[in-house]
Amino acid sequence: MSKKRIKMPKNIAIFASGSGSNAENIIQYFQNSDLLHFPLIVSNRANAYVHERAKKLNIKSITLPKSDFETGEAVLNVLRKYNINAIVLAGFLLKVPELLISAFPDKIINIHPALLPKFGGKGMYGSYVHRAVKAAGETESGITIHYVNRNYDEGNIIFQAKCTVEPTDTEDDIAQKVHKLEYEYFPKVIEEVFG
Ligand code: GAR
Repeated sequence: MSKKRIKMPKNIAIFASGSGSNAENIIQYFQNSDLLHFPLIVSNRANAYVHERAKKLNIKSITLPKSDFETGEAVLNVLRKYNINAIVLAGFLLKVPELLISAFPDKIINIHPALLPKFGGKGMYGSYVHRAVKAAGETESGITIHYVNRNYDEGNIIFQAKCTVEPTDTEDDIAQKVHKLEYEYFPKVIEEVFG
């Protein structure tokens, strides 16, 4: 007799430092999901545009100071309060504290706007990444979705997708192509990993 795996609903927190277009896209994708819920956005910036998006989407968003992400205790307390089971980093620019990594083993994933292991590490985020890709004369870029470990952008890779980079492409053109891939694939990978 085959056994059916019963799937338990999960609460996922999104961590975002900036505009939050990925956060919005993910929340919209899972709006009617019985399985994956997104009750909370955590940011380290009070003036990040992600808070406006959260308001519009009727999702709770909070700001925690940078210092809270050094030890992670206060962050963990908030996550426990919301019964969070997993974390998605969508444009989150601080290092995830060790405490969170051990509290959520293989339950934290990040999206990086390039093809890791190239163009990753501290300080490599958003437009800095696209600028570096262009300066290196790359003919392709893309997205990498990976588990988060102790080092920036070094956790095991779950998924990558590529786009071309033409010699005439500006930094913004590359950003647009990469965003398109992010919007298409990030929610599907989240569904695959946590659903
Ligand atoms: C995204 O392109 C994401 O891949 C990148 O920041 C952007 C956030 O955009 N993340 C990193 O660079 C992390 N190293 P968004 O705020 O509009 O979702």
